[in-house]
Amino acid sequence: MDTILIVDDEKSLLELLTVVFKKEGCQVKTNPGTPKVFELIDQGDYDLLICDIKMPQVDGMDVLKRAKLRNPLTPAIMITAYGSVKQAVDALRIGALDYVVKPFDIEELKILVARGLEGRRLREENILLKKTLRAETSFENMIGKSKPMREIFGLIEKVASTDSTVLVTGESGTGKEMAARAIHAQGRRREAAFVSVNCAALPENLLESELFGHVRGSFTGAVADKRGMFETAHQGTMLLDEVGEMSPWTQVKLFRVLQERKVRRVGGTDEIPVDVRIIAATNQDLKKRIEEGKFREELFYRLNVISFEMPALRKRVEDIPLLVSHFLQKHCERMGRKMKRLTPEVVGLLEAYAWPGNVRELENVIERLVAVEERETITAGCLPVEIAGSRPKEDGPVVLKAGFKLEEYLDQISRKYLQEAGQMAGGNMRKMAELLGLSYRSLRYLLHKYQVKAFKRLETKNERIGNGISSQR
Ligand SMILES: Nc1ncnc2c1ncn2[C@@H]1O[C@H](COP(=O)(O)OP(=O)(O)OP(=O)(O)O)[C@@H](O)[C@H]1O
Ligand SMILES: [Mg+2]
Repeated sequence: MDTILIVDDEKSLLELLTVVFKKEGCQVKTNPGTPKVFELIDQGDYDLLICDIKMPQVDGMDVLKRAKLRNPLTPAIMITAYGSVKQAVDALRIGALDYVVKPFDIEELKILVARGLEGRRLREENILLKKTLRAETSFENMIGKSKPMREIFGLIEKVASTDSTVLVTGESGTGKEMAARAIHAQGRRREAAFVSVNCAALPENLLESELFGHVRGSFTGAVADKRGMFETAHQGTMLLDEVGEMSPWTQVKLFRVLQERKVRRVGGTDEIPVDVRIIAATNQDLKKRIEEGKFREELFYRLNVISFEMPALRKRVEDIPLLVSHFLQKHCERMGRKMKRLTPEVVGLLEAYAWPGNVRELENVIERLVAVEERETITAGCLPVEIAGSRPKEDGPVVLKAGFKLEEYLDQISRKYLQEAGQMAGGNMRKMAELLGLSYRSLRYLLHKYQVKAFKRLETKNERIGNGISSQR
């Protein structure tokens, strides 16, 4: 049942409106324009406000402002005297839904109230819907709703509540740094610093001084004392990015710091206690690096307390349309462009491509499209050749070159043909099986394996999050 708050100094009008709206099935609260009205407003348990503008004790405009402050969604209908329309217009400016001029027609007010309540309901529903949708498809800014990503989100949540060292592996661009940030943001250290150190970017001596700091005069160029990242990250989290690239000597030093929880600045003697949670990330196979003698085994075990692998994008194809719409929106907004649309063929090509650079590569492609394409609709011709050409050609000879992976290539072809058969058969699985020369069972197995939907339901999913992917599939 909706509750209406009616504020008017004219007692007879209050009584009349109470009767009218009770008959309409509403609950009614009233106030005769006294300061107590602000208390009622702050309690906030009403769905719509009707308020006279001109009252001797309190100003109707102040009542309106307070109501809007408390909840901007609350619809308000103002009552104004004949000849003071200017004030009513001011009220609209502050956010009143509408106004009636005294003497007014009760039927007119009833319509306004019904409209106000309906609008409020819709807006609330909408907000709720958007919230749940966002919650279902993202976690700490990480987009994804595929099974592997949902598992990652769950893991991050669990890991975040501990203080254990975490090793995040995965190909480049899969979101290892994002995962590390999410662990930090979800844990008790969230108020302290998150520091990321790229171990591959600096030569050995600079990396050491970056991590542990140095004292003045300890080497040429050390003109002043400098605190290291470990000290900066005190009580926070440190991401050791590309940890596999760290030189053996720095590995020894790092291992010592992790064991003793104390750092000594380069050239210094003081031991400075540090409380830092370590997350290490790498796109290398550390076990292999150990075998090659390039990574120290004891450091590996020190880092590998909890570990997980960020899944490659080609292993979670169903996240591609979501990520595409997310990046489209992000970059169109950033560059002040009108939202672009992708044809279904483009979406198909993006899904079929193997994405060796994973999410980063996908984002770069979308960013470039937004920047250089003038047209609102992106067609296959706009895509870089390696993506546009990923549609397997009939009997096209495969050129073998470094990095070629037969299984991935075959997966790609299978996925493409499944998608095409799905389109040709309009989603009819029996017909699809026939087209592909498969048994119904094998078809079902392959659709599941390659995460291809017999009948693409892109439309509803994407329209609901308002992206630019066109829906005629
Ligand atoms: N799930 C995701 N949702 C949204 N954006 C993502 C997601 N995963 C990665 N990105 C974006 O892709 C880019 C690469 O992510 P990130 O730097 O975390 O990857 P990485 O695995 O650390 O890469 P590298 O190995 O190259 O350092 C970033 O711009 C990030 O915002
Ligand atoms: Mg990274």
